[in-house]
Amino acid sequence: MRFAYYTLAFVVVLLLSVMGLRGLRSSRPPIEVFPDMDRQAKYKPQAGSKFFADGRADRPLPPGTVPFGRDVVAKRDKDGKTYFADPAFLRADDFHYEGKLADGSFGRGFPTQIEVTREFIERGQGRYQIYCAPCHGTLGDGNGITKSYGMLTTPTFHDDRLRAMAEGEIYGTIAHGKNTMLAYADKLSPDDRWAVVAYVRALQRAAHGTINDVPPELRGGLK
Ligand code: HEC
Repeated sequence: MRFAYYTLAFVVVLLLSVMGLRGLRSSRPPIEVFPDMDRQAKYKPQAGSKFFADGRADRPLPPGTVPFGRDVVAKRDKDGKTYFADPAFLRADDFHYEGKLADGSFGRGFPTQIEVTREFIERGQGRYQIYCAPCHGTLGDGNGITKSYGMLTTPTFHDDRLRAMAEGEIYGTIAHGKNTMLAYADKLSPDDRWAVVAYVRALQRAAHGTINDVPPELRGGLK
């Protein structure tokens, strides 16, 4: 008999827990067993603060603050003092870091700090094949694998507009994206972006190659 009561109690609890507690709404937050650090005292952007004399939570930059890039190499001088030798430290060169000239237009060619060697272009080829080819295709004709999944708007690099486009603008597209193309600044360092630009130029050159681009001694082997 006692066993029957236990069974009944168990079934009631089971039914209640499965069906009885459905659909209850509450405006109170759910019970948090482990609140971790989900909720903390903080200031939201542009909020006010009684703590600071000027009443602003956002603090202005201390005078003399300089922009800080990531390509910083700390070195030591002969007295053992640390200094930053990399000219990229301030990212002051707009052409190198934004592809832009002083008047804000996109520049042509490559920054003077960059030497376009075969090795550099091959670096660009590797990065291109990882990050760009899925959409733009290994030939740069816009026929990457994503096309067969419905991404139809990827342009070819071989039309006149993109062939005439300044190197700085291609750099800018990589750094900041364009319309439906996302930015690749988080995946490609500034110099890698230039390497990809160089490789895009190589693809364009290859797609418009003529017999004169082939060294005479190799022409015989062409079909
Ligand atoms: C996820 C797909 C995708 C990837 C990956 C991608 N692109 Fe694009 N790209 C696009 C699309 C789509 C457009 C057309 C954007 C538009 O609507 O103008 C575009 C446009 C461009 C343009 C032309 C911009 C213009 O002014 O018309 C360039 C140059 C370009 N991409 C270069 C690159 C390079 C270099 C990479 C690799 C770092 C890359 N893209 C990676 C999809 C992609």
